Amino acid sequence: MNNLESNNYLNSVELKRETASFDRYPFSLPVISSLTALEFHPKVTFFIGENGSGKSTLLEAVAVVCGFNPEGGSRNFSFSSCETHSELYKSIKPVRGVAHPHDGYFLRAESFYNVATNIDELDKQEGGPPIIGAYGGQSLHQKSHGEAFFALFMNRFKGNGLYLLDEPEAALSPTRQLAFISRLHELTAMHSQFIIATHSPLIMAYPDAIIYEFGETGIRRVQFEQTEQFEVYKSFFNDYKRFFYEIMNH
Ligand SMILES: Nc1ncnc2c1ncn2[C@@H]1O[C@H](COP(=O)(O)OP(=O)(O)OP(=O)(O)O)[C@@H](O)[C@H]1O
Ligand SMILES: [Mg+2]
Repeated sequence: MNNLESNNYLNSVELKRETASFDRYPFSLPVISSLTALEFHPKVTFFIGENGSGKSTLLEAVAVVCGFNPEGGSRNFSFSSCETHSELYKSIKPVRGVAHPHDGYFLRAESFYNVATNIDELDKQEGGPPIIGAYGGQSLHQKSHGEAFFALFMNRFKGNGLYLLDEPEAALSPTRQLAFISRLHELTAMHSQFIIATHSPLIMAYPDAIIYEFGETGIRRVQFEQTEQFEVYKSFFNDYKRFFYEIMNH
């Protein structure tokens, strides 16, 4: 059996090109206008690439067609503070695997505050065990940015899940990013599938993964050592004084 077709919740997505208007956003983005289908790794798929290349746009559309709230959160949450999601999801067809996820989360870095507020508000209402219990028991508003993210990964993600994460490194120190990778590894061993947009070289180095680089000519699959992140950080740490000298005397 092809490894990419086994045991994952989302095998691929396809762009229904006949429904797309390529002269306007988001279809005009090179990564979308050149897209026919994108296969996902059964464990981890990374979206990497330049700012504005379309990683969040595609991740959000995948999240919406998978039933997540476009503002982030689990599939139980339904709230809307400001609808900013693009029309792309209407033209995306998910190709699902045979198994169904029992858990899931869509983490949008910039809207995590809304998710934290929503949990607090739901817990003020009567009935059911407090949701915050699944996040470590303390309001996520009473934690630092990084602590709140960390509580989410460690307590809320249960395994057998589909997790879509947009820049999970945003609030994490390098040490916490390594702890995140360790938890990611545990969760993939517990039949979880991740799609992660990231700029972090630490996170994208996770070996059991596909890396898709988003760029001006579309989406291409790359190895970690071929990434811009690998090259830039490597030359920086090899000789950071020279690196700065060259930048400042450019
Ligand atoms: N509502 C919109 N209308 C028009 N253009 C938009 C809209 N939303 C986003 N864009 C543009 O689409 C492009 C892709 O944005 P997106 O957020 O997907 O990039 P990204 O790859 O996630 O970048 P980053 O690494 O900075 O998070 C950007 O150039 C952005 O300005
Ligand atoms: Mg983004």
